[in-house]
Amino acid sequence: MTDTAKITLGDKTVDSPVLSGTVGPDVVDIRKFYAQTGAFTYDPGFTSTASCESKLTYIDGDEGVLLHRGYAIGDLAEHSSFMEVCYLLLNGELPTADELKTFDYTITRHTMLHEQLATFYRGFRRDAHPMAIMCGVVGALSAFYHDSTDIQDPHQRMIASHRLIAKMPTIAAMAYKYSVGQPFIYPDNKLSYTGNFLRMTFGVPAEEYEVVPAVERALDRIFILHADHEQNASTSTVRLAGSSGANPFACIAAGIACLWGPAHGGANEAALNMLREIGRPERIPEYIARAKDKDDPFRLMGFGHRVYKNYDPRATVMQKTVREVFDALKVNDPVFEVALQLEEMALNDDYFVEKKLFPNVDFYSGVILSAIGFPTTMFTALFALARTVGWVAQWNEMISDPAQKIGRPRQLYTGPAHRPYVPVSQR
Ligand code: SDX
Repeated sequence: MTDTAKITLGDKTVDSPVLSGTVGPDVVDIRKFYAQTGAFTYDPGFTSTASCESKLTYIDGDEGVLLHRGYAIGDLAEHSSFMEVCYLLLNGELPTADELKTFDYTITRHTMLHEQLATFYRGFRRDAHPMAIMCGVVGALSAFYHDSTDIQDPHQRMIASHRLIAKMPTIAAMAYKYSVGQPFIYPDNKLSYTGNFLRMTFGVPAEEYEVVPAVERALDRIFILHADHEQNASTSTVRLAGSSGANPFACIAAGIACLWGPAHGGANEAALNMLREIGRPERIPEYIARAKDKDDPFRLMGFGHRVYKNYDPRATVMQKTVREVFDALKVNDPVFEVALQLEEMALNDDYFVEKKLFPNVDFYSGVILSAIGFPTTMFTALFALARTVGWVAQWNEMISDPAQKIGRPRQLYTGPAHRPYVPVSQR
């Protein structure tokens, strides 16, 4: 027996089915609501709206829980690898040793870019933001890989997914190399996915590049923490673009564009810039006061979340990783102390407690990425690199869903009612 929700509108009462998932809130199925009542529901920021059914990622914002295909993010960060998490998100189960080896081999052999794409970079100014380059180059992949754009063919969808996961590190590393005027470094198949990215980013042809295992491990863990996150803004963008039948490269380029915003993936860059601007613990109260001032648009970057009203479990792992990287690289950057004290003061301030604002995934990530040597402009590009597996997994799930239709929301219209045209001579 399915529960129903009764909604009365004027002289109409409609019964909408209530659907339950494995865990988490039930949903009221209002797909027939407009046909039955002639009214739309209204939820501009989608604060109370489920856009789809998914089996990929579950978040409990009150409990600070994040599961990928049922596995807790803390367990995956501790025991898994980014390649294994990619396999899990794409296929639904943790791989056997042989399955992981085959998957790793496949991804490794898709890391090279079509050589003509290297000239594509020359069209950008040297100071172009890496996210501008990522949007352009990933979108341009549509022009190079016509053999994997038939979205109705599951095999082509998987090839396109593997290509995107494999090529994002190469594209991101090339964006960095172009910005510093150094030559592009080709992938090295002997290295791990993350080790290969570190070498393509920081290696130079003039000498051997040694991957530091602690850094490789820390960055691989950061990729795991960013892999997928339910129906966030950029994932919803990918799904909406994909619902029109657009090719996967165009959909991921749309996701990259959305992720760039400082309220979303751009927050890691903004958070480190904020910590550097604060500079020393004595200045923290000034910034906390500004964040609380309704007349000041300033917000504590890396704080708050639409879903997490308790601690973001990714921030917990991220804070631990700062110490590991600082110890491995013998870094003593005062910005970490500023971050720790800012968190401590904010979490003891009624404003942040009442509004349930905690550090999110972006609060500490910039501290680590800066210690490893990435410029702040590369932070969101790394977020996009890691989130590509989540985007392609969600895109595949949407395309495979028999219930999926093109996304086409309606609106509450408050513009002028119909009025006659007035010739310019009479205005
Ligand atoms: C990511 O969705 C995802 O899953 C995203 C993500 C992912 O993995 O994909 O987790 C990645 O985007 C993390 C969030 C990164 N963004 C930031 O750190 C930017 C700073 N934070 C925010 O701007 C804000 O908290 C959001 C955008 C993250 C959430 O915004 P909401 O849910 O729409 O909440 P809101 O803007 O309505 O804020 C609620 C209240 C407001 O005060 P009132 O109007 O009720 O008086 O809290 C205040 C806000 O002013 N507030 C903050 C604040 N964030 C919210 N006040 C000070 N500092 C902040 N950071």
